[in-house]
Amino acid sequence: MEDNELDFSPLVCVHLLAAKFAFIFLHVGFAFIAVLDGYLSTNALEGVLLSNIGQLVNLTRLDISSNKLHGSIPQSLWNLVNLGSLDLSNNSFNGLIPESLGQHVNMYHLDISSNKLDGIKFMEKGSRLIMPYLNLWYLNLSHNQISGSLPKYIGHIMPSLGDLYLGNNLLNGSIPISLCQSKFFTIDLSNNNLSGEIPNCWEDNQRLYEINLSSNKLEGTFPSSFGSLSSLLWLHLNNNSLKGELPGSLTNLKQLMILDLGDNQLSGNIPSSWTTYTFPSLHILRLRKNMLSGSIPSQICQLKLLKVLDLSLNKLEGSIPWCIGNLQGMTLGKSSYKVNGKQPHKLIAKAPSSVSINVPAPPGLWSNQDVTEVMKGMELEYTKILELVVNMDLSHNNLVGFIPNEITWLTGLHGLNLSKNQLKGEIPQMIGDMKSLESLDMSHNHLSGTIPNSMPYLTSLGHLNLSHNNLSGPIPKDNQFLTFNDPSIYAYNPYLCGSPLPNMCHTGEISHGTPESKGDEDDNEVEKVLFYFVIAVGFATGLWGFIGTLWLKKNWRHAYFRWVEDVADKIYVAFVIKVAKIKKKMMRNHVH
Ligand SMILES: *[C@@H]1O[C@H](CO)[C@@H](O)[C@H](O)[C@H]1NC(C)=O
Ligand SMILES: *[C@@H]1O[C@H](CO)[C@@H](O)[C@H](O)[C@H]1NC(C)=O
Ligand SMILES: *[C@@H]1O[C@H](CO)[C@@H](O)[C@H](O)[C@H]1NC(C)=O
Ligand SMILES: *[C@@H]1O[C@H](CO)[C@@H](O)[C@H](O)[C@H]1NC(C)=O
Ligand SMILES: *[C@@H]1O[C@H](CO)[C@@H](O)[C@H](O)[C@H]1NC(C)=O
Repeated sequence: MEDNELDFSPLVCVHLLAAKFAFIFLHVGFAFIAVLDGYLSTNALEGVLLSNIGQLVNLTRLDISSNKLHGSIPQSLWNLVNLGSLDLSNNSFNGLIPESLGQHVNMYHLDISSNKLDGIKFMEKGSRLIMPYLNLWYLNLSHNQISGSLPKYIGHIMPSLGDLYLGNNLLNGSIPISLCQSKFFTIDLSNNNLSGEIPNCWEDNQRLYEINLSSNKLEGTFPSSFGSLSSLLWLHLNNNSLKGELPGSLTNLKQLMILDLGDNQLSGNIPSSWTTYTFPSLHILRLRKNMLSGSIPSQICQLKLLKVLDLSLNKLEGSIPWCIGNLQGMTLGKSSYKVNGKQPHKLIAKAPSSVSINVPAPPGLWSNQDVTEVMKGMELEYTKILELVVNMDLSHNNLVGFIPNEITWLTGLHGLNLSKNQLKGEIPQMIGDMKSLESLDMSHNHLSGTIPNSMPYLTSLGHLNLSHNNLSGPIPKDNQFLTFNDPSIYAYNPYLCGSPLPNMCHTGEISHGTPESKGDEDDNEVEKVLFYFVIAVGFATGLWGFIGTLWLKKNWRHAYFRWVEDVADKIYVAFVIKVAKIKKKMMRNHVH
């Protein structure tokens, strides 16, 4: 947050963001603070907070994030009745979050994320609600150790709340129905131990843009009422235990960009009703690691903005739809991610705390989104660069038939994984057109024919695997293929030949298997032996021809040694003269 975004009272405004040291020395002026290795001594800063901070009653904003503060959150913060924004994130505070904090009428931004807190006391007494956090917009308690279940009325007790971040805690129990009726923009309950079914009572509030329930123990089916959320941009339900079929009738998800249902137990077909009318904005469809069956519906080709299509690790059958090349979002030039408008949190931060929320649903922020994809053989979590990832993963299914030639139209693809299927036929000849490919895995299929000549021109390709097929002919030796030295990427293609495989190719004709290459090696051995023999013979005759004659013929021997002596004398004389000259020259230089 920048200062110019907030309207501060002129009385006291302490901004600690960059100048925590300055705050301590100038405004409070304690002398006992020790600075050790550039960090504030933990106890010292704590002492400050405990004893004196409560006196700064006019403080409107306090940021002491990223320190090494520990202990409980000081009760003295109660007194700061004008505090609007409090950031204690990235410390080691533990214990409960004081109840009193919630009574601050002016508090609109509370970030206590990344601490060791183990509880929050929401003011809920039976069904009677006291209204704390009256004006709270933003609550980030993620990355703590908060346990217990969510308050039943969580959707109501913070009437102004926009963003609720409770991810990476130890929350258990089920998701309260009241969440469906909340006015939230963001609901992040990811990485907890929540169980039970996701309530199916969602109503369009035209502001909810992000739901992240990933990595919990949620069961039941995909709630069909999610389909009514017209403002939803991101839906992460991955890594749960959802069962049943994918909903066929989703009518209102016109803005949805990410649908991540990976790592669940969903079954049945991919609905053919999922067309461009259902998901006109969908960029990422991740159904990886489920139990989906049936064939890939050709309607999927209508999803023009799709950048990531991950259907791997399912039980899909049938062939790859020929229309796959129509996925324009995976085509170079047309593959830039659509980013809607401004950042949501800027909007929220700007709003003065007393104004009730009436802004339209804030559009999404790609850089906060996060999806895990496997590329180059590694599982990678794409966060900051998610909008740059273009990937198709159909691996580990039961797909049959040919690889459609049209797949080579997808020139924007960075990763293509077709491995572990039953695909047959040849690798498309024009595969060299897929200029953006960095990772290509076609292993474990029944592909035949030769490696296309265009393939070495995939100059971005860093990871290739063609093993376990029936490819034949020579492995290209030019361009990008010079960088592939690992024989495992070609293994189990008995008719493939050339480096780095042990079987050589015959020029003119194609090598057929190992026995012939064995013959090649034997020929080589004989050649080598002959070569060394000839050298040895030459050496012997040469040397002994010379020494032998000297030994046998007395005259020649004398003549030879005389000549050697002469040469030695001449070299000695030349050397002495040269040395004398150099000496003279040096003397002259010395004189001048
Ligand atoms: C919430 O806190 C976590 C942990 O400090 C941080 O990584 C995340 O960016 C915060 N969320 C938002 C939306 O600011
Ligand atoms: C959703 O939650 C997971 C698990 O906590 C987290 O890694 C991811 O960053 C979250 N995604 C978004 C888009 O916030
Ligand atoms: C392709 O997918 C398979 C199975 O899902 C996986 O084992 C392999 O690592 C992936 N290949 C690459 C290059 O990421
Ligand atoms: C593998 O390829 C070879 C030669 O290209 C062919 O003769 C053979 O029938 C193929 N095997 C299978 C199982 O397709
Ligand atoms: C290629 O795939 C095979 C079979 O899945 C695997 O054994 C081998 O390690 C892979 N090679 C590389 C370089 O990933």
